[in-house]
Amino acid sequence: MSSGRTIVVGITGGIAAYKAVNVVRAFVLRGDCVHVVATPAALRFVGKPTLEAISRNPVHTDLYEGVAEVRHVAIGQSADLIVVAPATANTIAKLATGLADDLLGNTILASTAPLVIAPAMHTEMWNNAATVANVATLRARGVIVVGPGVGQLTGADAGAGRMEEPDTIVAAALAALALADRTDGPGADLVGKHVVITAGGTREPLDPVRFLGNRSSGKQGVALAQAALARGASVTLIAANLEVAAPTAVELRLVGTALELEAAVTDAAAGADAVIMAAAVADYRPVQVSAGKIKKDETGDTLLLELTRNPDILAGLARTKRTGQVLIGFAAETEPDPVRLLVLGREKMARKGCDFLVVNRVGWAEGFASDRNAITVLDHDGDIVCEVSGTKMSVAGRILDLIG
Ligand code: C5P
Repeated sequence: MSSGRTIVVGITGGIAAYKAVNVVRAFVLRGDCVHVVATPAALRFVGKPTLEAISRNPVHTDLYEGVAEVRHVAIGQSADLIVVAPATANTIAKLATGLADDLLGNTILASTAPLVIAPAMHTEMWNNAATVANVATLRARGVIVVGPGVGQLTGADAGAGRMEEPDTIVAAALAALALADRTDGPGADLVGKHVVITAGGTREPLDPVRFLGNRSSGKQGVALAQAALARGASVTLIAANLEVAAPTAVELRLVGTALELEAAVTDAAAGADAVIMAAAVADYRPVQVSAGKIKKDETGDTLLLELTRNPDILAGLARTKRTGQVLIGFAAETEPDPVRLLVLGREKMARKGCDFLVVNRVGWAEGFASDRNAITVLDHDGDIVCEVSGTKMSVAGRILDLIG
């Protein structure tokens, strides 16, 4: 899908610059016009020809080139969005003080577009009091800071400081763009609203190394969180074993089991304007969790597991929900027949008592891990409110229309 936006990707001098190529590529494939502004140090890590080929535009580095056209102002003014990835500790410090000693610094100062930065540096540098203060200054100015992630660093060590993955950076950038588009418009309809979203799939431990789980990736719940943020909501994301990164701007609560999810969502729902239960919650958990690893030489050829029902969290939320709160549940079913799928959805609505139920088909190749979804939304009376199919982000937008 072509969005035709002009995006400036600033690349600064860190080893993660090689991953910035994929950020540029993702925008170009969306149909955006991408201008790369690289610092001289960045070009020691990744080649100008690579960046020019991938961005399909000349790469700018030098403040003293194109002086006649006042290039730094021209690039800054043309930008709908500026993304700096990676953003080194040095660049972050310069941005915090408004320094403009290179083309990127000038471009950013000359722009009113939203600014998204993806820090990348060593853990000690990220935790340094100077960096902490600089990042706080930028956040206070409305700069969106994506990551850094925690994991393997360039050397043998690991910790906080890894640049976020390109798809996470792009998703945050698009959310920032959507919010900028919508400020003061109908799209900013969730400003001042608190939305609680559960995402992922719960895991019920059998012993210290095994669990009963499901194939939910959390992609739909995370798309809902991104879309809600883009529309101005404050979002609490209750994340059960996500396979995708959570947006950094959410209040994140990590849970593992159904009972942990119940405690977290019940607590968060108390002050929420809307609760969206997108998580796949285990219906049963083992009656006993073995203290040690279950050994097959002790259990024999067959192993019988005794399971007990988990509470129906959604039904519980429906019983205690305060006036005005919108409660949305999901019904993931494998039923192939669309008519019978709807019957199942209506029966589920009668059991759950929520305001809306998002019915979707899941299977080996449908629903969970996919980037797309096809949904039918039922209201409290079981009537169809809307039917949508598309990316999980576009589906998320239609679901949020129910609470806007
Ligand atoms: O009963 P079923 O699992 O099909 O219902 C799906 C909906 O109910 C989802 O919104 C899910 O988050 C929620 N659920 C729940 N507690 C459970 C099981 C599912 O809240 N124990």
